[in-house]
Amino acid sequence: MRFTRAASALKGTITVPGDKSISHRAVMFGALAKGTTRITNFLRGADCLSTIACFQRLGIRIENNADEILIYGKGLHGLCAPDSPLYTGNSGTTTRLISGILAGQNFATELSGDESIQSRPMKRIMEPLSLMGARIESLRGNDCAPLRIQGAGLHGIHYTSRVASAQVKSCILLAGLYADSPTSVTEPYLSRNHSELMLQHFGASVTSADTTATILPEPDLSARGIQVPGDISSAAYFIAAALMVPDSEVLIKNVGVNPTRDGILKVCRDMGADITLLNENAGNGEPTADLLIRYSSLHGTAVGGAVIPTLIDELPVVAALACFAEGTTVIRDAQELKVKESNRINVMVKNLSAMGAHITATEDGMIIEGGYPLHGAVIDSCMDHRIAMTFAAAALAADGETEIVNADCVRISYPDFYEDLGRLCRN
Ligand code: S3P
Repeated sequence: MRFTRAASALKGTITVPGDKSISHRAVMFGALAKGTTRITNFLRGADCLSTIACFQRLGIRIENNADEILIYGKGLHGLCAPDSPLYTGNSGTTTRLISGILAGQNFATELSGDESIQSRPMKRIMEPLSLMGARIESLRGNDCAPLRIQGAGLHGIHYTSRVASAQVKSCILLAGLYADSPTSVTEPYLSRNHSELMLQHFGASVTSADTTATILPEPDLSARGIQVPGDISSAAYFIAAALMVPDSEVLIKNVGVNPTRDGILKVCRDMGADITLLNENAGNGEPTADLLIRYSSLHGTAVGGAVIPTLIDELPVVAALACFAEGTTVIRDAQELKVKESNRINVMVKNLSAMGAHITATEDGMIIEGGYPLHGAVIDSCMDHRIAMTFAAAALAADGETEIVNADCVRISYPDFYEDLGRLCRN
């Protein structure tokens, strides 16, 4: 896939696809609820399709219609043992959340995914699930998938997680549905709270105080309609592109702006970005807004601490944006970037350096000296969708041609990304 310096500007209105995190959860919780859950604006990216396929293998009827997904839920105890291992593809969310559900079943399941999934850390869920009474084993003994999970009668625990991870938190809360007493999770900083909000919506008793979430066992979950907001993580590439290419003005419609996810807006504003929220809607606990982004001259900033989990997937594009800001941007407390779909610190430093950026890797982030113009280069996405989209955006503001190798991986979270980006470019 090749890109040349954009055009003079990005202009126009765009609607991004549904939120990936919320789409996954709607399928999973709908499967565990009684009745039919109707999901609209579901993200048909490969990761969410992996979740659908897994629940079909667990005996749930799911209709994938043009304008809606229907989940025929069978209640908390309605899943059936699959006849062969479950395949979770590239999806960390599917792998970690489904593990919490499988820990509460009266059967054993094996699950695995692609090469990337087989190298991502699973000890972070194996430890709490074992403490709750499940038998969970890494079949190669390396604390990664493939995993074998023997469900059991679970006990409630209070777990203190070393990482601020919504996947870990959600896994434990889902296991807590099957426990014999309350289960709570404390994390160092608050991670995205979509599970807490949606579980409440389905009738579970979930409470949150500071960075601790608590769930009571064995609720009767009831099917609910879920309207998935646009994904702010997908919107981030258009936000960044509009801020990098002079004269741009882009309106992004119906974007989820849950405060546990909107760190990209805060950091861009800290850098001097002109971002206006229009049509703000409180939604059903998941607020949305239209985002009006106007090209702005930016300055460097410091990104660290509690904001990190609220923009963890947007940090690669923040690093690219920082190349267009005057002064230094420091990203810290972001060690988690090393264990995403790729090692996003190494991959960003290598690829941005190839484009002429002044960027250094640190133990827990990156330091970027802005103001040095980028030039085109050959970029390897390392099969990481967020890296491919970051460099498609950066290429629009770089001199010359950029080639993205393994560009198709955007199908994980945004199958029509390149078409949508192309429609905003003015020549
Ligand atoms: C996700 C949580 C984040 C994020 C991932 C989706 C989720 O991972 O990076 O893309 O849906 O819960 P961690 O919670 O492990 O940081």
